[in-house]
Amino acid sequence: MQFSQRTVTCGGLRASDVGKQVVLNGWVHRERNHGAIHFINLRDRYGITQVVVDGDAPAELQQTASALKMEYCIAVTGTVRPRPQGMVNPDMPTGEVEVKAQKIEILSTCAVLPFMIDEDNKTKEDLRLRYRFLDLRCGGIQKRIALRHRFIKSIRDFLSARDFYEIETPTLIRSTPEGARDFLVPSRLYPGKFYALPQSPQLMKQILMCSGFDKYFQIARCYRDEDARGDRQLEFTQLDLEMSFVKRDDILNLMEELFGYVFNEVLGYQLPVHFRRIAYRDAMNTYGCDKPDLRFGVEMIDFDDLARKSSFNAFHQALESGKGAVRALVAPATEGFEFTRKYIQELEDAAKIYGAKGLAWMKVTDEGRLTGGVSKYFEGLDGEVLTVTGAKPGDLICIVAHEKWKKACVSLGAVRSRLGKDLKLIREGFEFCWIIDFPLFAYNEEEGHWEAEHHMFSAPQVQFLPTLESDPGSVLGDLYDLVLNGYEVASGSIRIHDVELQKRIFRICNYDDETAEKKFGFLLNAFKYGPPPHGGIAPGIDRMVMIMTGQDSIHEVIAFPKNTFGVDPMDGSPEEVDPRQLEELHLSIVYPQKQEKAD
Ligand code: AMO
Repeated sequence: MQFSQRTVTCGGLRASDVGKQVVLNGWVHRERNHGAIHFINLRDRYGITQVVVDGDAPAELQQTASALKMEYCIAVTGTVRPRPQGMVNPDMPTGEVEVKAQKIEILSTCAVLPFMIDEDNKTKEDLRLRYRFLDLRCGGIQKRIALRHRFIKSIRDFLSARDFYEIETPTLIRSTPEGARDFLVPSRLYPGKFYALPQSPQLMKQILMCSGFDKYFQIARCYRDEDARGDRQLEFTQLDLEMSFVKRDDILNLMEELFGYVFNEVLGYQLPVHFRRIAYRDAMNTYGCDKPDLRFGVEMIDFDDLARKSSFNAFHQALESGKGAVRALVAPATEGFEFTRKYIQELEDAAKIYGAKGLAWMKVTDEGRLTGGVSKYFEGLDGEVLTVTGAKPGDLICIVAHEKWKKACVSLGAVRSRLGKDLKLIREGFEFCWIIDFPLFAYNEEEGHWEAEHHMFSAPQVQFLPTLESDPGSVLGDLYDLVLNGYEVASGSIRIHDVELQKRIFRICNYDDETAEKKFGFLLNAFKYGPPPHGGIAPGIDRMVMIMTGQDSIHEVIAFPKNTFGVDPMDGSPEEVDPRQLEELHLSIVYPQKQEKAD
């Protein structure tokens, strides 16, 4: 197609360009007529420029201008002139000038739009995803995708300057359990056999260490067949990283340096040199979760002693077995906010989701006495309660007791999160922390066996080696999570590199030697040939960019995400395939009984 090619972008013109002859290519963002004068806001990735077709323009140009509609793709040839006095727009970088059009070519027309192309598209998500090609023209998402690009580029720059190799690993691999469900790819050549899409490049990066690559990273696509949520996708991107001859702190220090560099490059934001390190147990006790939002205080308090001194039976029962806990927190008196019965009920509902049987509460009067809720069980203990909790007049003390320590913590943690939002306690900015000293194993009640808290390749801390089998529940791992503003943004560990230790872990996780050999034989084999001590980490790129751009959903920072039902409304995937394709793959479909065929 013949067309006039741009000499400048729609974001490029300034007052110093006045008088220049230019060609612009772009989309009609808005157009309006003032009598015979046409104003066209022409948009491309770089910005918007005002184009004017004057009242005395030739009839043909007037006609073309009249035919323009939103999102037509056009070429404009014209001269740059200053905007008339009073018409300068200080909010636009190009706002001092306009282009007087001499020629307009329509490069393509546009059908009726399903929504306006704005800075922020407030249309329902499914419609946005169906017309993602249009949604992606909106300014907000364009900026986020641009920031994502800069984020990844600065990661590459930083790591390349530190001797890391970027190495691609396969996306068709053996199905190896890593925590979630695998996506499977049937083999045409080997009937009944399957590849799996990697949940992460975990084993490949460990094998790269066995091969002596020493420092590896990859911007890796990962695939997990799990329910999608705001911060989860079926396919997502990690910065996958592994290093040889390292200990935990080498990796934590490197990550602090990396994100310090990246946040400064991308946002001009200064992070502290080191991030707080919080042991898992302390995080649970203080914040009621292992991904605390440190942008606000409201720390939880050990209330066991006071619970024992109280006359409240439910508290005593929770502590009876020695495995329970009573935790308290203080919701600070906040101007314009009342701790009504209804609101306290909402907090209780939040706590109950995580297993609390109830939420005990007391208020502090102006005179500094306890009142309401369970205060009657604390007779004579007002002073002590106020000293322990630090509660002041007008504050609300919330307490959860449970015969299981973790449930008490997590339930009150949910109350803490609600208070942070509802009382608007959350500061602006970015608060990183490390969570360390995680348990290595978690007990799977449903299946009746231990399983890895992170994955089975993470090393136990050495002091637990003698008691791995006899007391798996108390084993701490050389594991670490990076948390940002209440989200887990990265996970990693020092790995096992000893065949025998690896087999012990498999056995504890219910994989006998034969099954382990079948599933992970290639790793165990590599470990026979001089594997180096190694460790790594994997920050989730989507989650980090989501937080950096102030979004609540990773859909906002991924060009083509699936919706919460795992569907792409634009290309319609997943979709049935041609019966011939199934035949070639030696597959036939057995539909679930109730559902004859997927809609
Ligand atoms: P893990 O499974 O914890 O560890 O994942 C690491 C990080 O990846 C991100 N993430 C996700 N992001 C979007 N959608 C998802 N479904 C999703 N799942 C995980 C999170 C998370 O912190 N192989 C190990 C890492 C290692 O040990 O080196 C792993 O994949 O930000």
